[in-house]
Amino acid sequence: MSEEKYEVKGYSEKGWLYTDKVKEHFFNPKNIFKTDQELEEFKKHADGYGTVGSPACGDVMEMFIKVKDNIITACKWRTFGCASAIASTSILSEMAIGKTIEEAKKITPQDIVKELGGLPPRKIHCSVLGDQALRKAIEDYESKN
Ligand code: FES
Repeated sequence: MSEEKYEVKGYSEKGWLYTDKVKEHFFNPKNIFKTDQELEEFKKHADGYGTVGSPACGDVMEMFIKVKDNIITACKWRTFGCASAIASTSILSEMAIGKTIEEAKKITPQDIVKELGGLPPRKIHCSVLGDQALRKAIEDYESKN
């Protein structure tokens, strides 16, 4: 099968399609749960939880937040999604920490993609996973407070 038959290519003759920022966050994701045990421990003291599945690809994202004085102090996650989902959620977690709940709600998938320096068009939906999971985690926090 020729390469042109693939729907999504990570690279072309011009080099990688992913920006350096995407690669940096994919290879070294921030605020990710590295083990189930770490997730279980964090869960005990989390203030909000959100999980979503992507209708576009069937991948899943889980996110937990901690909130103090209306400010997000921690944002941890894990996913069974792709490189773009990992990079997007990694950078989103950094963007969310330190923001008030109101500010965090204003973050959009477009903001995430901008921070990453862009994503290949067919991977834009991957940035929505983290965004939706954060929204659900905030809704969960708000429903309890
Ligand atoms: Fe499923 Fe990217 S292809 S999250």
